[in-house]
Amino acid sequence: MKNSGQLLWDKAKTIIPGGNQLLSKRCEMFLPGLWPAYYKKANGCEIWDLDGNKYVDFAQMGVGSSVLGYCDPDVNRAVKSAIDEGSMTTLNSYEEVELAELMLGLHPWASMVRYSKTGGEACAIATRIARAASGKDKIAFCGYHGWHDWYISSNLSDNANLDGQLLPGLEPKGVPRGLKGTALPFNYNDIESLDQIIKDHGDQIGVIYMEPQRGNEPKDSFLQKVRARADKINAVLIFDEVTSGFRINPSGIHMKYGVEPDMAIFGKAIGNGYPISIIIGKKEIMDSAQSTFISSTFWTERIGFVAAKTTINKFLDLKVHDYLTDYGNKINEGWIGLSKEANISIAVSGIPPLTHIDFKCYDPAAAQTYYTQEMLKKGYLLGASVYTTYAYSDDIISSFIEESLPVFQQLSKLIETQSISNELLFEKKHSGFKRLT
Ligand SMILES: Cc1ncc(COP(=O)(O)O)c(C=O)c1O
Repeated sequence: MKNSGQLLWDKAKTIIPGGNQLLSKRCEMFLPGLWPAYYKKANGCEIWDLDGNKYVDFAQMGVGSSVLGYCDPDVNRAVKSAIDEGSMTTLNSYEEVELAELMLGLHPWASMVRYSKTGGEACAIATRIARAASGKDKIAFCGYHGWHDWYISSNLSDNANLDGQLLPGLEPKGVPRGLKGTALPFNYNDIESLDQIIKDHGDQIGVIYMEPQRGNEPKDSFLQKVRARADKINAVLIFDEVTSGFRINPSGIHMKYGVEPDMAIFGKAIGNGYPISIIIGKKEIMDSAQSTFISSTFWTERIGFVAAKTTINKFLDLKVHDYLTDYGNKINEGWIGLSKEANISIAVSGIPPLTHIDFKCYDPAAAQTYYTQEMLKKGYLLGASVYTTYAYSDDIISSFIEESLPVFQQLSKLIETQSISNELLFEKKHSGFKRLT
């Protein structure tokens, strides 16, 4: 008998194309047929499903948004007060100016700010502003930047252009063919790949777009070299910090590396789960937003501003980044210890606050599915990536690692006999984007 979440998920897939609004929350990305799918309530790092089962979240903590933990009392108090006093009116929210000053104080190279609600939307806004400022259409990019036409158009030239940038297998259906050749991918830590694009299209490139760090650290002054190339061809350099921002330091991760972009984009972590995204930039670039129409009703609503202000101030007061990093390191050490004890080959990667495990065996997806399946039985939500949260504690992490040991030991035997799939109660997890029905 399926759990209530799966029964509802089956129905959802018949009336919502793809089942929901975000690939990373599809059950099939974790544990097809068994993932609890929906929640009734959440608090700290715990979630209760529709059947009343409680889980500790070692998966995504709201896809990386809930850095402080679910239902953080301070953020919720500020949000509730904004609701009680009116969160959407004819006049503007004064908090948007306060939040702008807070962000500019943390990023002294920037002098202007715009807002939206989601990461992809903020990326599209930054793209428009940067193209307006540079007067040139083409974009050289590296990393993931959302679902909008400007980005997915990259696959019009070659269906595999985006494969090396986080999400393989994205078809550019519905993206105007006229955008072909406007978004050109280069590879992280591979300055030659950017140089090649500049050689072929240098005078038409108005924007260089990248995540300053996702998995590996920048090597051989990669960020400085990209900065120098942007200056040389007169392109706007955008750092997309939607995932990297406010995790290992109380600002964009680029502040740690001392490389200044022309614009930077934030999302996910800054509102502790309430929708808000922020674009900051240099005045001469951001001012172009006055000559191109960028405007939307709900970019003005109050909840996002107060949530972000409270989250960022809490981040600064409590040094949340130190906890996120420490917890990530402890999970990595735990996994590496388990792999030695159980004699399984794994790789861990990513910044510690967004750590990732890969099983190195004949069927990595089956191994991950088995790990998720067995940990679900013990009350953990687990995927291949863990976004750490301030709501963890050393004890919570120790218990997670201890409870993982028998699973690793069993998995070791199954890998040896190449029989993991015999122990999967349903099918193995999906690894990328595809049709569900
Ligand atoms: C670097 C980066 N940019 C943009 C996005 C898109 O953000 P959203 O899912 O809020 O639209 C993401 C989401 O994962 C991201 O990691």
